[in-house]
Amino acid sequence: MQLSPVLYAGVLVLTIVIASPITYDQVRGVPYSVSYDHRAVTINGNRTLLIAGAIHYPRSTPGMWPYIMSMAKQNGLNTVQTYVFWNIHEQQRGTYDFSGRANLSGFLQEAASAGLFVNLRIGPYVCAEWDYGALPAWLNNIPNIKFRSNNEPWKNEMKRFVSDIISYVEPFLAKNGGPIILAQIENEYNGDDMAYVDWCGSLVSNDFASTQIPWIMCNGHSANSTIETCNGCDCFDGNWMDEHRQKYPSQPLMFTEDWGWFQPWGEALGVRKTEDLAYTVAGWFAAGGAYHAHYMWHGGNHYGRTGGSGLTTSYSDDVVLRADGTPNEPKYTHIGRLQNLLADRAEAILSQDSTRSPLPYWNGEKWTVGTQQFSYSYASSIHFVVNQARIQLFVLFNNQNISMPAQSIQIYDHSQTLLWNSANVSDINTNNTVLVPIVRSPLDWQFYSEPSVSDLPVITASKPLEQLNLTNDETIYLWYRCNVSLVQPSAHTVVKVQTRKANSLLFFFGGQFLGIFNNDEHAQGTITASVTLDLSQFRPNQQYLFEILSVSLGIDNFNIGPDSFEYKGIVGDVSLDGQSLIGKVWEHQKGLFGEARQIYTEQGSKSVEWNPKWTTAINKSITWFQTHFDLDHLARADLNANPVLLDALGLNRGHAFINGNDLGLYWLIQGSCSNVPCCCLQAQIHCWEPSQRYYHIPSDWLMRKNNLLTVFDDIGAPSPGFVGLVQRIVVT
Ligand SMILES: *[C@@H]1O[C@H](CO)[C@@H](O)[C@H](O)[C@H]1NC(C)=O
Ligand SMILES: *[C@@H]1O[C@H](CO)[C@@H](O)[C@H](O)[C@H]1NC(C)=O
Ligand SMILES: *[C@@H]1O[C@H](CO)[C@@H](O)[C@H](O)[C@H]1NC(C)=O
Ligand SMILES: *[C@@H]1O[C@H](CO)[C@@H](O)[C@H](O)[C@H]1NC(C)=O
Ligand SMILES: *[C@@H]1O[C@H](CO)[C@@H](O)[C@H](O)[C@H]1NC(C)=O
Ligand SMILES: *[C@@H]1O[C@H](CO)[C@@H](O)[C@H](O)[C@H]1NC(C)=O
Ligand SMILES: *[C@@H]1O[C@H](CO)[C@@H](O)[C@H](O)[C@H]1NC(C)=O
Ligand SMILES: *[C@@H]1O[C@H](CO)[C@@H](O)[C@H](O)[C@H]1NC(C)=O
Ligand SMILES: *[C@@H]1O[C@H](CO)[C@@H](O)[C@H](O)[C@H]1NC(C)=O
Repeated sequence: MQLSPVLYAGVLVLTIVIASPITYDQVRGVPYSVSYDHRAVTINGNRTLLIAGAIHYPRSTPGMWPYIMSMAKQNGLNTVQTYVFWNIHEQQRGTYDFSGRANLSGFLQEAASAGLFVNLRIGPYVCAEWDYGALPAWLNNIPNIKFRSNNEPWKNEMKRFVSDIISYVEPFLAKNGGPIILAQIENEYNGDDMAYVDWCGSLVSNDFASTQIPWIMCNGHSANSTIETCNGCDCFDGNWMDEHRQKYPSQPLMFTEDWGWFQPWGEALGVRKTEDLAYTVAGWFAAGGAYHAHYMWHGGNHYGRTGGSGLTTSYSDDVVLRADGTPNEPKYTHIGRLQNLLADRAEAILSQDSTRSPLPYWNGEKWTVGTQQFSYSYASSIHFVVNQARIQLFVLFNNQNISMPAQSIQIYDHSQTLLWNSANVSDINTNNTVLVPIVRSPLDWQFYSEPSVSDLPVITASKPLEQLNLTNDETIYLWYRCNVSLVQPSAHTVVKVQTRKANSLLFFFGGQFLGIFNNDEHAQGTITASVTLDLSQFRPNQQYLFEILSVSLGIDNFNIGPDSFEYKGIVGDVSLDGQSLIGKVWEHQKGLFGEARQIYTEQGSKSVEWNPKWTTAINKSITWFQTHFDLDHLARADLNANPVLLDALGLNRGHAFINGNDLGLYWLIQGSCSNVPCCCLQAQIHCWEPSQRYYHIPSDWLMRKNNLLTVFDDIGAPSPGFVGLVQRIVVT
């Protein structure tokens, strides 16, 4: 007679381990140990089910963190996962910044206060759709550096930064009673430099062994002494789990990124079905997974200039907690129920290995055993019934005929009571938020035209220079200027510029804005911009100032490797009417005059002359708009749970600032709907509307009275009079 899996498990429970559901609350403040066995990460020797979600500290603000953590806790998470973002901490080499959104220790404290463990993914290359994958731009200038390879200059910089971070977070490590239980070195390394991978392993097992926590490497090569983990849309179907068990029999199964995807400019919002996400989470834990993280759990925003190439300011809006922090239904409730259920039964789940038992399905004539219907049962108390097939069918489970929708999982208790069904969200109210206008248009604007030539310092060279080398990515703007005279200015004068993807170029001749080139691809690489300018009004053989304002639309984050440096601005030839402008005197101005004077702050605003006749600035390129507003008509007082958003309809493209804080790039570019949504997405919504119309304003940047709103529109705003503020109210 064969033992049933449940009985077999019962034996395991008695003889091998005792698992207990552990939260950080149970260990806080006293040193504790973290290790792992083949089944799970262990805390003080006890297996712990890690129910995690990615919350990136710079994608929100300190004033939002306690709210986000409390929602995470309520949603059944016991672990927060975050990357560490090198380029916000060390924008100048050797000078560290841990203030504001970069206050990693403040973030760790908030996680700890909420009773959440932390998985710290240091990288320091993190990809993450973050500007340059979080590499500081100055790395480009380190002689002979080859990123992410067995290259001394790279290894020196990487080791120095990771060591500094480890010293900084030392009080937050488990051995000191803090919440950090896991760390990550590298990120999705798929290169072929195995000597580099070995070096990453040696860092973990030698240099950083004093951290006394397990380290992971995800979705690519993993070094000895690190745990290999999975990233993807679904690490449950397919072979990843089986292969991992074979390759690394002593490691637990960890799903570090269950993807919610992201949104590029020019695309409508992509959405992933809640049922699909729910299936992958339940399947993962059913089949023996011991760690699962939503990537992202909180969508977050690219405030300032932090997004990777071509990506919207709202990072990931269709995940459990939207970009603006409101619950995304039905995901929030459906996933929350599952996670709380798993947390309640964690002890049973971790008490044994997962065993798959095939279940018969009804083929129309008889019960038949196939390969896609099965159950996993744990300690007789929790049963996962799975239909992997992409069609609905009936399965026989414990003598019950159960209807199973396509690719779905149902969870039962010992008495055959249905606890959760991945495919059923019908009782969840998805209409859970309302947008309420709180500051109505038209606002009382004044404007200021960005001067093309000013007293700002310039750098002169005999050719246009690469942008990042001059800006160190401290601004997305670089002015290029040179004097030209043309033999025959015409209505069809062609300018050609070698530039990079995710770059925009605005062309000015004789002080007039005459043309634009935009590439908003989420990609890297050199391309030739070719734009026809109407120069018919200008005279032949007379000298005019020719200016190009280069706007970086983010540094690409993907595929950063030994030979893939990323650049911005002009990276080769510039020609006008077929005549190369290399060899002429070129002046470069880093950033805008308005940026240098910080005219988006109360103090800086006074340094320029504002014009109240703002309607005369409609459609005018490189224009600053400014106004004040009060929050007298809030619909709700809690601005974390009920966030305030800038309704940017009427603007074109640029940056918006609230009380001196940069909300990020806004762009009213139309969002197209491709026929086949990419990756983990099943559909797109808001087709042909702006890619992003509403821009989140963090609660800690707002005041009740006299808020300063400043906008710099580079292309030219068609209807600034439409701009207003709304509050997203959560209704229950
Ligand atoms: C770990 O398990 C042991 C044995 O069951 C128990 O005594 C101890 O309290 C557990 N530790 C924690 C932190 O739960
Ligand atoms: C980070 O946050 C903590 C907790 O709020 C605070 O004590 C500390 O001063 C902050 N650090 C910086 C550099 O602002
Ligand atoms: C990693 O482990 C494998 C298998 O044990 C071994 O052959 C190899 O030498 C190890 N590599 C390093 C760098 O320690
Ligand atoms: C299972 O239930 C479905 C729906 O009620 C029914 O159509 C099917 O015949 C049942 N199968 C068996 C074997 O009872
Ligand atoms: C889905 O769940 C609701 C509420 O729990 C229940 O009334 C309904 O019958 C379920 N639908 C299906 C198809 O299981
Ligand atoms: C959503 O809810 C709001 C009020 O809460 C209501 O006015 C609106 O009609 C609802 N929309 C749908 C589609 O049910
Ligand atoms: C950056 O500028 C410096 C000084 O002009 C130059 O030596 C260096 O080669 C430049 N680096 C890159 C990557 O272009
Ligand atoms: C263009 O010419 C004017 C007048 O000669 C001069 O003042 C200015 O500096 C020149 N600008 C550049 C970029 O060469
Ligand atoms: C501004 O530009 C838009 C788009 O080109 C155009 O439709 C609109 O008429 C312009 N408005 C004014 C006042 O020129």
